[in-house]
Amino acid sequence: MNDDQRAAVRANANYLREVRPIDPEEIHEYVSGRPHPAVVREVLRESAPELALVERDDGTFVPASGEPITTDFAGVAVLPEPHARALEDLLVDEYGAGWPTGESGERLRERIREVKESYFAGESVHYDRETALAYAIYHLPDYYATIQYVLADLARDGLLDHHLRVLDVGAGVGGPALGLADFLPDEALCEYHAVEPSDAADVLEALLDTTGKNFHPTVHRTSAEAFGFDGEYDLVMLANVLSELDDPVGVTERYLDVLAPDGSLVAVAPADRETSIGLRKIERALCDDGPATAYAPTVRLWPGHVPTDRGWSFDVQGDLDVPPFQRRLAAAADEGSAFVNVDVQYSYSVLRTDGKRRIEFTPDPNRVAKMAESERHVSSRVDCIAAKLSHSLSDGNPLFKISDGSEAVDHYAVLTRETALNRALSDADYGALLEFENVLVLWNDDEGSYNLVVDDETVVDRIPV
Ligand SMILES: C[S@@+](CC[C@H](N)C(=O)[O-])C[C@H]1O[C@@H](n2cnc3c(N)ncnc32)[C@H](O)[C@@H]1O
Repeated sequence: MNDDQRAAVRANANYLREVRPIDPEEIHEYVSGRPHPAVVREVLRESAPELALVERDDGTFVPASGEPITTDFAGVAVLPEPHARALEDLLVDEYGAGWPTGESGERLRERIREVKESYFAGESVHYDRETALAYAIYHLPDYYATIQYVLADLARDGLLDHHLRVLDVGAGVGGPALGLADFLPDEALCEYHAVEPSDAADVLEALLDTTGKNFHPTVHRTSAEAFGFDGEYDLVMLANVLSELDDPVGVTERYLDVLAPDGSLVAVAPADRETSIGLRKIERALCDDGPATAYAPTVRLWPGHVPTDRGWSFDVQGDLDVPPFQRRLAAAADEGSAFVNVDVQYSYSVLRTDGKRRIEFTPDPNRVAKMAESERHVSSRVDCIAAKLSHSLSDGNPLFKISDGSEAVDHYAVLTRETALNRALSDADYGALLEFENVLVLWNDDEGSYNLVVDDETVVDRIPV
C-alpha cells in the first residue's frame, strides 16, 4: 500500500470512529485502488496506538474507552501455558528437546546458581543469552505474577486507563511485560516500551509474540541511562532492576520526569533484606527529600514526619504451581529443589508526582500516639493508627510490621491473645490502615524495636480508606 492509500485509510478511520465500528471490509472500498481488506487491517493495526483504536474479536476497530479499567483480579496461580510453551520452544531451539538433561541442563543449572550467588553478593549480573534463558526458567513465573498484584491495586484505585503508555525499564526476559499484558482487559490499548540493553532482549522479543492484538510492544536495546525519551508515560515500571544500577536514585528521578501528570512509577524489588531496604531508601530519597510522593504502600500519616526506620517491608502471595520447565530442569538434578522458584514475595513502591496518596488520613494528635514518640509511652497503653506493612513475621506469637510514617525505629504489633475485637490485625490485607485502641508499648532490646502488644484488652479496627 502506498502512502496516499495509508493516509486515506487513516482519514476514513478518523471520520468513522465517532459513527460506527471501523470495518476493514467496509473502508477498503473507500480507498483508491481498493486495497485488500487484510492489508487495510494491517494499516489499522499499525496505526492503532496513534489513532487510539482497539481491535475487537470480530476484526473491527473502535476507539479505546476513556474510562479507567475495572478488575476482578483474584490472584495468579500459574504461569499460563502459552508463555510456558514459548519459553520451552526457545530452549528446544537452543539446545534440542533434551535441554534439561546432559550438558545443556548442567549449564543452565550452573547459570541459575551463578545468578543467585551474584545476587546475594550484591554483584551485577551479565545477561548473555544463556544466562537470560536460565533467568527466565527461574524468574519468569514469579515476576509475571508479582507485577499483577501491584497493578491490581492500581486498577482498584481507578489509576489505570484503557489507553496506557508504559515504559518498562530493565525489562529483562519479560516477566513483568507478560504479566501486564495478561492483566489488562482485551479491550485495553497498551503502547508498551521496553528498555533492555542485554541479550535478555532476544528472549523478551520472542515471548512478547504471545501477547494480544491490542498490546503494541517496542523493544529499545539500550540502557536506562542512555535511553532518549519521546513523550510521556502513564506507567513506568522498574522491576527488580534498581539494585543493578550504579545510581538508582538518579535513574528513578530521571524516569519520574517522563511520567504523565497522573501517571504512576512502580518500583519492585525482591523481598530479601538488602534489595527491599535498598528500594525503601530510594523511595525515601525521592519522596521525603525530593520531587515525588509515596502513593503506596508506605504511609506518612503525621504532617512534618517521615519514616527513618530500617524500612524492610514486603508482601507475600500464594505460591504458583511449579511450571513444567522448572520441574523438568529440577528432575534432572540431585539437588532439584534449588531450581524451583514459585514463591511470590516482593517489595514495591508506587511513586507519583501529583501528590496523590492511597491513604489520605491525618490522625488526631489529642487522641492517638505518634510512633516518633513511642519512647515516652514504654510500659503504657496507648491508642495509635498505623498501616499494616507485613504478613506475620514470626513462628510464635503472630508479629506484624506496622508504621505510621513517623518512626525512627521499627515498630511491630505482637498478637498475644486474639479476640473477635482485635482480629482485624490478622485479617487485614498488607497495606491496610488500622486503628489500635489500648495497645501496650514495650521496648525490645534484643531487636532494637518497639513491640505494641495486642492482647484481650486491645481493640483493632480497620479504617476504610
Ligand atoms: C534482575 S533482571 C529483571 C528483569 C525484569 N525487570 C524482571 O523483573 O524480570 C535486571 C535486568 O536489568 C537490566 N539492566 C541492568 N542494568 C541496566 C541498565 N543500566 N539499564 C537498563 N537495564 C539494565 C539487565 O540487563 C536485566 O535484564
